[in-house]
Amino acid sequence: MTRYPFDFSDKVVFVAGGTSGINLGIAEGFAKAGATLAVLGRSQDKIDKAIEKLRAHGGRASGFSADVRDTDRLTEVFTQTHEALGLIDVLVSGAAGNFPAAANEMSANAFKAVVDIDLLGTFNVLRYSYQYLRKPGANIINISAPQSFIPMEMQAHVCAAKAGVDMITRTTAMEWGPEGIRVNSLVPGPIQGTEGMKRLAPQGSDAERMVIESVPMRRQGVVEDLASAALFVASDMASYITGTVIPVDGGWGLGGAGQLGSTLVELVKKN
Ligand code: HXC
Ligand code: NAP
Repeated sequence: MTRYPFDFSDKVVFVAGGTSGINLGIAEGFAKAGATLAVLGRSQDKIDKAIEKLRAHGGRASGFSADVRDTDRLTEVFTQTHEALGLIDVLVSGAAGNFPAAANEMSANAFKAVVDIDLLGTFNVLRYSYQYLRKPGANIINISAPQSFIPMEMQAHVCAAKAGVDMITRTTAMEWGPEGIRVNSLVPGPIQGTEGMKRLAPQGSDAERMVIESVPMRRQGVVEDLASAALFVASDMASYITGTVIPVDGGWGLGGAGQLGSTLVELVKKN
């Protein structure tokens, strides 16, 4: 079991989209470090299972069923969180949707669905929690994706949305820095066993093998990799880090045309 050298006891951590996958892994990291957790997602069944996992680490955990596209509901959720737990010390915004689809085939509504969840949803989560963030001292971590800076075929909607998420990180870091709020993006690479990878490169498939080959560290990440990064970024050890976009991806984002280097040299030698 990963042991974290961080103490978040007495801290309130709210994770939007924290009921499964990477975001739940991050929530568990904070729970292991002693934090009080609140998580949000749409499915009550997923909320119940997440709460059970979080409480198993010994601390307090509560859950809210809400859609990040519904600003009225978010207003209720953050008001209730404040009444029950007080000010938020760490806010993680990671609710997202994805499916592979060609730009000339997906409907405007398909594109809009992803932009509304990932980009507008991130704005909503930050905007409607803002009055309940601890000032000074709050930390916001937006969960981005490599698609925010790597144009990827079949991912026009996600690329557009996540590039926007990173710009929200930078602009809110500028606007809210004077109040003592730090804002950063974490960029997960391909993370093993998650919904995102199931949709793009299912376990055991050739697609998954190809992804692993394209990662300099030659492995997929695990959710604990993101938890470690989130704990560090939200800790006092990172107190001068804000407005950054931090890949946690085994070097995956370094790829692109540069990955042709060794292949080209081999081919030139052969000819
Ligand atoms: C084309 C699709 C589609 C698909 C849905 N749509 N799936 N179009 N191909 N596979 C279209 C629908 O037809 C509809 O358009 C529009 O999108 C909205 O669909 P709904 O089902 O009504 O949307 P909604 O119920 O809001 O669900 C949102 C969702 C869904 C994004 C479509 O998949 C979802 O809730 N996903 C959450 C979980 C998830 O995706 N996790 C992975 C995150 S990973 P029309 O025109 O018919 O109305 C990630 C990055 C991974 O974000 C990076 C890995 C490297
Ligand atoms: P996941 O398990 O599907 O997690 C998505 C979470 O967001 C769930 O809690 C989901 O719960 C919630 N959610 C989705 N739509 C929502 C909505 N409209 N309103 C409220 N909550 C909503 O996905 P994941 O693969 O772990 O990805 C988590 C994050 O990491 C995402 O931001 C994703 O873009 C990013 N990421 C993932 C990978 C990867 O390898 N998986 C790589 C790069 C980036 P409900 O469905 O119940 O609402």
